[in-house]
Amino acid sequence: MVDIIKEIEQLDWNKEPKGLYEPIAYTLASGGKRLRPTLAIIAAELIVNGGLLNGDAIEHAVPAALALEIFHNFTLLHDDVMDRAAVRRGRETVHVKWNDNTAILSGDQMLIEAYKQLAQVPADKLPQVLKWFNEMATAICEGQQYDVDFEHQNQVRIEDYMMMIEKKTSVLIANALRTGGYIAGANPAQQEALYQYGLHIGLAFQIQDDILDVYGDPKTFGKAIGGDICCNKKTILLLTAFEQADAESKAELLEWLMTTGRDAEKIEAVTAIYNRLGVREAVETIMEQHTALALAQLDRLPQNKACDKLRELAERLAVRKS
Ligand code: IPE
Ligand code: IPE
Ligand code: MG
Ligand code: MG
Ligand code: MG
Repeated sequence: MVDIIKEIEQLDWNKEPKGLYEPIAYTLASGGKRLRPTLAIIAAELIVNGGLLNGDAIEHAVPAALALEIFHNFTLLHDDVMDRAAVRRGRETVHVKWNDNTAILSGDQMLIEAYKQLAQVPADKLPQVLKWFNEMATAICEGQQYDVDFEHQNQVRIEDYMMMIEKKTSVLIANALRTGGYIAGANPAQQEALYQYGLHIGLAFQIQDDILDVYGDPKTFGKAIGGDICCNKKTILLLTAFEQADAESKAELLEWLMTTGRDAEKIEAVTAIYNRLGVREAVETIMEQHTALALAQLDRLPQNKACDKLRELAERLAVRKS
């Protein structure tokens, strides 16, 4: 049995200089849901248990699963600088506890550590895994750039938003599943079903993240509430509000988008507009549609316990609080 959480905890960051490695240890020890490596391992289990291969194939997916989690945590260090976020997983973010330079450089080292793990992927699988990993990494950078570009644009459409979150969030989740499955021997149709399932849970996941950024409980969510509103993030909540608003509410929203330095007031006012327009319910419907699309992909995969886990996970993610 692979215990991927334990594998992450056993990574050794007790190295010099401390200024580089302590923030890495701090980040990787701070928990999080470990969603991506868990998905990679479940995908491997799904293929192994549904097919002909031996159990070693699950072990073979471990380095890739670790690479994906380290890479994900690297993106968070840089993301928190970009989003000016002070709290993550209930603790100070690296750029606050240390400084921006630390978040940049320890983040860079985490990217390198991710590639070191990737180099451990079985040689016959490595070229494909590496190609997918690089495509994923580029998509995330592109998604992150759109995300910050959109802060300064007021004409963003919901389809632009969907493209942006697919790149910044879904592709990593989808690639985790496809990579875990591929290393365990998934055929091309199974790889594609895993990827499509991942894309749709990823979209639902980011939509729920946007919802929790406004409506979450900071104690369970682990992040400060209202950060997206303060940064003028073009979240699905804001875009839906614009779509549903009458002229008066639209003018009010635009006024708040131009307001800086009154964060608490801005969060309260924009949330009140969302409430008035029933934005949360509208957005939850879109999220549920993607959960359903994800579930439909599972019919194309071997039906076993691992597949049941993916089914439960899709449903659980849509109602998650953290
Ligand atoms: C945070 O990801 C970044 C998003 C894509 C919203 P997670 O919510 O998976 O973060 P952790 O790893 O569980 O803390
Ligand atoms: C997550 O977007 C995307 C990446 C980190 C690549 P967010 O900026 O919404 O993530 P959180 O809310 O800070 O975790
Ligand atoms: Mg961000
Ligand atoms: Mg962020
Ligand atoms: Mg967020």
